[in-house]
Amino acid sequence: MSAWLTTRVVENRHWTESLFSLRVEGAQLRFQAGQFVRIALDVGGERVARAFSFVNPPDDPMLEFYGVIVPEGLLSPPLARLKAGDELYVAPNPAGFLILAEVPDGETLWLISTGTGLAPFLSILRTPTPWQRFRNVVLVHAVRHARELVYRDVISATPAKYVSFVSREAAPGSLAGRIPAAIADGRLEAAAGVALTAANSHVMLCGNPQMLKDVQAALALRGMKKHRRRAPGHITVESFW
Ligand SMILES: Cc1cc2nc3c(=O)[nH]c(=O)nc-3n(C[C@H](O)[C@H](O)[C@H](O)COP(=O)(O)OP(=O)(O)OC[C@H]3O[C@@H](n4cnc5c(N)ncnc54)[C@H](O)[C@@H]3O)c2cc1C
Ligand SMILES: NC(=O)c1ccc[n+]([C@@H]2O[C@H](COP(=O)([O-])OP(=O)(O)OC[C@H]3O[C@@H](n4cnc5c(N)ncnc54)[C@H](OP(=O)(O)O)[C@@H]3O)[C@@H](O)[C@H]2O)c1
Repeated sequence: MSAWLTTRVVENRHWTESLFSLRVEGAQLRFQAGQFVRIALDVGGERVARAFSFVNPPDDPMLEFYGVIVPEGLLSPPLARLKAGDELYVAPNPAGFLILAEVPDGETLWLISTGTGLAPFLSILRTPTPWQRFRNVVLVHAVRHARELVYRDVISATPAKYVSFVSREAAPGSLAGRIPAAIADGRLEAAAGVALTAANSHVMLCGNPQMLKDVQAALALRGMKKHRRRAPGHITVESFW
């Protein structure tokens, strides 16, 4: 049984009808950028908990989570309805391996996300480590519609090269289509202005599980494979479902 921490919502920002960011205070948690924690609400008399990645860097005492409403889901619809002053339960034990401590040194770090999979990379980008360890850091964010390209102010305040994809409408400044196709035909490297090779790159992936598979297949054609402690490779992944 985890002893739940009771926190209070400070702000629930709605970016679109389905995307929201919760800022909460009241929990002093130790975690590494890229990790997640379970958050919970009581729904119909049951405590419903789900994993959420920290958006905030570890030294920020205000916790932040970025979510999408899954209409048929149990937790995300009531989370999206929370208002300033409401209670939110947070587990005391952050976890997860999508962290730079698990990543070998290299020249270029690629942080590749779809949808809310952007969240852990926003935390990582706001720590000093990527800039100390990599010459290039490329953040890739793929969404269906341009209005879902969120946290632009946070991203542009970092030195990361930013490449966005918008798949379901024409969007100036963003690539069209999906990430795996743009790896295969070289458009991703051209947009980032850096090479994506087994010799120079490590890739962290987060978001839609089918995207994780398809990107890994595209990277396998470049000789890249999953990184394991005992068998070093080039790819670190976290699936959101
Ligand atoms: C390690 C980890 C970290 C996570 N971090 C985040 C996060 O930072 N932000 C976030 O929104 N979610 C995150 N998730 C997913 C989150 O835990 C919930 O699954 C999600 O909020 C939906 O909860 P639900 O109860 O409404 O629906 P669930 O019953 O949990 O999910 C129902 C279905 O919704 C879809 N789905 C679930 N999550 C997402 C999503 N994020 N985007 C699109 N479709 C989804 C899947 O098809 C899933 O089968 C994370 C999951 C894991 C395992
Ligand atoms: N985003 C919304 O407007 C919206 C609205 C209401 C509810 N929702 C809920 O949120 C869920 C997910 O929505 P989401 O938009 O956040 O996430 P998503 O479906 O994962 O889409 C995000 C991006 O990932 C791309 N993608 C999907 N599968 C891929 C693959 N195999 N390889 C590479 N790229 C891939 C999508 O491209 P494609 O467009 O080509 O699929 C899109 O550009 C929905 O199922 C729904 O429950 C979303």
